[in-house]
Amino acid sequence: MRKPYIAGNWKMNLTPSEAAKLATELAAALKGNDRKVMVAPSFVSIPAVVNAVKGSNIIVAAQNVNDHKSGAFTGEVSTSQLADLGVKDVILGHSERRHIYGESNELINSKVLFALENGFDVVLCVGETLDERESGNLEKVLGDQVTIGLKGVAKEQMSHITIAYEPVWAIGTGKTATPEDADSTHKVIRKMIAGLYDESVAEDLIIQYGGSVNASNVKALMAKENIDGALVGGASLSVEKFLPIVNFDK
Ligand code: PGA
Repeated sequence: MRKPYIAGNWKMNLTPSEAAKLATELAAALKGNDRKVMVAPSFVSIPAVVNAVKGSNIIVAAQNVNDHKSGAFTGEVSTSQLADLGVKDVILGHSERRHIYGESNELINSKVLFALENGFDVVLCVGETLDERESGNLEKVLGDQVTIGLKGVAKEQMSHITIAYEPVWAIGTGKTATPEDADSTHKVIRKMIAGLYDESVAEDLIIQYGGSVNASNVKALMAKENIDGALVGGASLSVEKFLPIVNFDK
């Protein structure tokens, strides 16, 4: 039985004080709730958010991390810097990292391996652009993102991996994949994982859907067999919008 996992990617939104306020409200709203919930604030907001959610079971994740221990990497953040703040989770390969900042599958793979080696849990994002989908390349694109992204990840490490399927054309656009489309793509991804590892790894893998998830569409998405969670952008920026997503089944 896969445990639902709802994550909020705050992207480059909220100042540290705004982020702390939202995290405090969220922690209060989720008191006693055992849903697996994560929020990913900007790096500068992480200390305030870690502090605000202390005593709750909200996971605080980073939105990115470097694949080197330390050194001359201006503007980058290391796993040990995050770990020192109590952060042990990271989102990698988000489409904005891939498409705006040119992160390749190979770089993302290097980050995945380094993060795992350093004790992090990883949400690996994959997803096709509209062009890639319309030109019939969906499975090839996802296949590369999954296969290269997870290259060298041992079977035993797969319990530390969550995959987030986020079709690029659905992110921040108000367009969502239909629950049926998303489910069938998740099924394709699960099959890829079975091929790379085995059926039991594939069966246990949490696959989140992301792309304009909101309170109105989350229930239908989560009702699908292969959709195990959500990675939420815009609708994670207020308790009013995020709470009904977290509590999709209540
Ligand atoms: P969105 O973003 O919910 O605003 O579409 C999702 C994401 O990019 O993770």
